[in-house]
Amino acid sequence: MNHRVDAPEQAIDFNNENSNTSANPTFDAVLGARLSRRGLLRGSVGTVGTAVLGGLGVTACGGSDDPVAEAKVLGFGAVAKSLADTVVVPAGYTASVLFALGDPMAAGVAAYKNDGTDGDFDKRAGDHHDGMEWFGLGADGKRNDSATERGLLAINHEATTDEKLSSFFLHANGGTSTLPRPASEVDKETAIHGVAVIEVAKSAGKWAYVPGSSQNFRLTALSPIEIAGPARGHAQLITKYSPTGTMTRGTLNNCGTGKTPWGTFLTGEENWFGYFTRGAADDAARGNDKSVTSLKRYGRSQGAASRHGWETGGADDKYQRWNNSKTGASANGSDDYRNEMNGMGYIVEIDAYDKTRMAKKRTALGRFAHESAAFGKAVVGQPLSIYMGDDSRGEYIYKFVSTALWNAADANAADRMAVGDKYLDSGKLYVAKFNADGTGTWVELALANTAISGYATYKFADAADIAINTRLAADAVGATKMDRPEWNAVNPANGEIYFTLTNNSNRSIDPTGSQYLPDASNPRAYTDMKGTSKQNGNPNGHLVRLKEGASVSSFSWDVYLFGAEAGADKSLVNISALTADQDFSSPDGLVFSKATGICWIQTDDGAYTDVSNCMMLAAVPGQVGDGGKKTLSYTKADGSKLDIVTPVGKAATESTLKRFLVGPKGSEITGLAETPDGKAIFVNIQHPGEGTAMANVGDATKYQSQWPSNAGYGAGKRPRSATIVITKNDGGKIGT
Ligand code: FEO
Ligand code: CA
Ligand code: CA
Ligand code: CA
Repeated sequence: MNHRVDAPEQAIDFNNENSNTSANPTFDAVLGARLSRRGLLRGSVGTVGTAVLGGLGVTACGGSDDPVAEAKVLGFGAVAKSLADTVVVPAGYTASVLFALGDPMAAGVAAYKNDGTDGDFDKRAGDHHDGMEWFGLGADGKRNDSATERGLLAINHEATTDEKLSSFFLHANGGTSTLPRPASEVDKETAIHGVAVIEVAKSAGKWAYVPGSSQNFRLTALSPIEIAGPARGHAQLITKYSPTGTMTRGTLNNCGTGKTPWGTFLTGEENWFGYFTRGAADDAARGNDKSVTSLKRYGRSQGAASRHGWETGGADDKYQRWNNSKTGASANGSDDYRNEMNGMGYIVEIDAYDKTRMAKKRTALGRFAHESAAFGKAVVGQPLSIYMGDDSRGEYIYKFVSTALWNAADANAADRMAVGDKYLDSGKLYVAKFNADGTGTWVELALANTAISGYATYKFADAADIAINTRLAADAVGATKMDRPEWNAVNPANGEIYFTLTNNSNRSIDPTGSQYLPDASNPRAYTDMKGTSKQNGNPNGHLVRLKEGASVSSFSWDVYLFGAEAGADKSLVNISALTADQDFSSPDGLVFSKATGICWIQTDDGAYTDVSNCMMLAAVPGQVGDGGKKTLSYTKADGSKLDIVTPVGKAATESTLKRFLVGPKGSEITGLAETPDGKAIFVNIQHPGEGTAMANVGDATKYQSQWPSNAGYGAGKRPRSATIVITKNDGGKIGT
C-alpha cells in the first residue's frame, strides 16, 4: 500500500520504514572504497567471473511445450499513461468490478451502503485489496486445479485509507482523529484487515463473486492463528493470550502472496510493526535487555505511537494487545503483551479450501516485512525453494530451502496443512549477498555461522531466535542492502527469480546520515523532479533477477529493468531505454502467468503520479546476462568519479514490454490471479482516492476519486478498493 516516495497527506509514513542501521552496507562500502582507490580490492570491477558463471547449471524448465513459444503475446495496443479516474485497458479488453470494500460475504449481510454506517465487517470484503491467488473448484465444489470457470480467490486486505489515525472512509464523519479511539471504530478497523476467501464463477459469459457461498470466509486482525516452526513455544512468543507461546491473534498488513504446490495460500505480513505502541520508558522497564535491540531493529523504538491507536479502544484484551510495552510483573511476559509484536511478521499458510482449518504462521521462513513467497520449480526428490523479500529501505532478499524432499504425491494430499507442516516448518533460511561481478552468494542464517553466534549487537540463543530476529542475523552476515525488495516471482520458462525493488530515497552519490552509496545491484542515485519537488535516490525503482547456481549457495544476477520516465537521461536513469508506451515508476506487484509466460509488473508509485496514475505492464523477459554490462559514471560533489559497472537486461522493445492497464486516481495496482486457461485475470485496485483529505469525507465533490461508483458499481461515492476481472472480448488469453 501507499509506498509513496513522498507522503504529502501523512505526517508519518508507516509503509516506508527505515530501521536498518546496521553498519554493513557491505558492497556499497566495498565498492565505494574501491572506486575511491582506498583499498579493499577483492577483484576487478567489470570483469565477469567467467569461471564461476561457467559452472552454473542452466535451470531452464521450459522446452518445446514452453507456453511462451506458442502464445502470441503482447499483441494488444499499448495503453497510454492516464490521469483519469477510471481503469483503462487495451482496446478489445473488458475490465469489470467484481468485489469491493464492504461487499457482503455471507447470507443475511445487508448490501453495502458506503456511507460510513455499515457494520459486520468480519462478514464483508476488507479494505486495501492486495496480493491474490486462484484456487479452482470443480462442479462438486471441491478443489480442481484445471477448473477455469469456478474457483476461490484468496485476497489480502492489507490496510486502510488513513490520514490521521482513523480509517476515514469507513466512518460516517471520518472517525475520531484523536486518542482515545472509540471501541466501535477500532472494531471496524481491525475487521477490515486480514484475508478474504470468496467464491467466484463465470455464468452466461460474466464473472461474479458468490455473496452467499458457504466457502467464503474472512481472517481479521483478531482471528486465532497457530505459531508453527522453530519459534513455536519460544520464550519470545509468550503472551497473556498464549502463555505457551503457541498461538497469536490475527494477521496484519498482508501484502504479497504465494501458492504452495499442495494447494494452500501463503500470505506475507508486511508493515505490521506500525500497529503497535511502546511506552516512553519501556527500554528501562525491560532492563534494556536484548528485546530492546530487537524492537528497534523492527521499527519500534520506545515511545513509538501506533498507526491507529487501537490500544486505546478500551480495557478489553483485544485492545490492550496492541500495547507492546512491558506493563506486567511477570518474568516471562505471560501477564502482558511485551512479546506481542513477535507474533507478527511471518508468512502465514491458509487452507483456502477449508475454513475449518486454523491458519499457521510459518516461522521457519523468517520474520520481516514480508511480501510475496514464490516457489522455485518443485522437483521430485529435491528440496523446495521459496524466495522472499523484506520491504523496507536497505533490507534484504531471502531464500528458504525445505529439509523435506519433494514427493509428488503431496501435491494432492487430503490434509494440506499437514503437508505444510512437512515442508515449511523445517529447513534452511538464506540471505542474499550480491557481488559486483554478477555473481552472488546465499548465506545460511544459522548459529553454526560464527558471524551470527559471535554477533556483538545481539546475542542469538537458538534457531528460534534467528527465526524471530531474522533481520539481525542477516545484518550479522553482511547481507546486501537493497532498494526495498517488494514482490518476487519465478519465471516458469527458466526458473529465474525476479524481484521488484520499488524505490529508495537513501541512495546517494554523496551520502550523509543514513544514506549509502549505490552499488552494482542497486546502481542508481539521481534526482527526479515532480513538479517543483525533488525526488532523490532511486525514486523510480528497478527489477533484479537471479539465476540459481550449481550449489544451493550460489547464484548469478543482473538488473533486468530500470523504472524511469521515457524522457530521462539514458546513461544514468532511463538505462532500459523505455518509450512512452513502457515507462513506469516504482514497480511493486509482480506475477508470472503460467498460461502465457507474461511477466506482469504493477506499480505503487508516488514519483511519476504527476504524469500518470499507477499502472500494470506486460513483459516478456529474456534471461540473466542477456544485456551485457553497463557503466554508470557519476561525478561526486568533490569532483571525483564514481563508476559503477552492472550487468543489465537487454533493452526493452515493443515486443517485450508494453503498458496494459492504468488505474483510477490515487490507486495502486496490486495482486494478480489468473484462471489456468489464461482467459481471465483478476487484479486489485488498492486505495483509489487515498489522496483525499479527511476533512472532505462529507463532500463527494472533493474526493480525489469516486471509483468504482463512477464505473457503475455499488452505492455511495466514497472510493473503494476492489478486485476487477479482465477478459478479452474475443475470448482469448489475456495479454495476447
Ligand atoms: Fe505492500 Fe511493500 O507493498
Ligand atoms: Ca503494495
Ligand atoms: Ca509497495
Ligand atoms: Ca518526474
